[in-house]
Amino acid sequence: MIKCTVPIIVGNWKTTPETLDIAKKFIKQLDKKISSSKTKLPKKSYLLAVTDIFIPHLNSISTRGYIGSQNVSGTGIGQVTGVNIPSQLLTGGASFTIVGHSEVRKQGETVDARAHKVTLALQSKLTTILCFGEHTRDKNGNYLSELEEDVKQTLSLVDRKLFENLIIAYEPVWAIGGNTPATASECFEVVIALRRALASLVGIDYAKKVHVLYGGAVAPDNAKNFIEEGGVDGLLIGRASQDVSKFIDIINSCYIK
Ligand code: 13P
Repeated sequence: MIKCTVPIIVGNWKTTPETLDIAKKFIKQLDKKISSSKTKLPKKSYLLAVTDIFIPHLNSISTRGYIGSQNVSGTGIGQVTGVNIPSQLLTGGASFTIVGHSEVRKQGETVDARAHKVTLALQSKLTTILCFGEHTRDKNGNYLSELEEDVKQTLSLVDRKLFENLIIAYEPVWAIGGNTPATASECFEVVIALRRALASLVGIDYAKKVHVLYGGAVAPDNAKNFIEEGGVDGLLIGRASQDVSKFIDIINSCYIK
């Protein structure tokens, strides 16, 4: 579980880097850069979602961040082959997990499966980042009601007593992996819609305080704008988190007053 300081800067390494050696060097360089930064950074300045097999190794050397996983199984202990359940990830050194990333949804992850993953992860005290995002936008704004429906459907299947360690990520699928992020105002509009959905499900107090992240083509020159004008509490970053210079630039930029 994570003690979150805002802004929450999360990197998603996906299937990079190729070897554990490269990953360890990256973490050492990153921690050194954070420790020598002129910007005042918190003790734990980043979250990095890495391939599961690297988690224990990177967790044991990372001093300035949290290490987590990119997905988790929603099945319990028992006879299921080839997956990692939350308690295994936790005892392996993960502090958090991502659930419902669009690249996982694309493989056929259902609303039920997502809800099971969120439930088991939160029960195991893994901070859980649950992703939502539209594939495309239509002129009438139907994507907003579709997103709200998705939030309500998924989270109505999860016991709300568990919601304390839940983080919501808005990742428009059309922005992921490209060069055009959402604008801050496009992001803001969706954040309001997501909070509205949460308010109707759990109440306004929770909806106001839950942390929301933005992800999709985040780069050093646009990162801070999402936090200042996009209404989010942090970022979920793919490619730019896989480059130590870009990642530290993003971290620094978000903390410069
Ligand atoms: P990019 O930052 O590479 O667009 O990826 C975003 C993402 O998928 C983070 O989870």
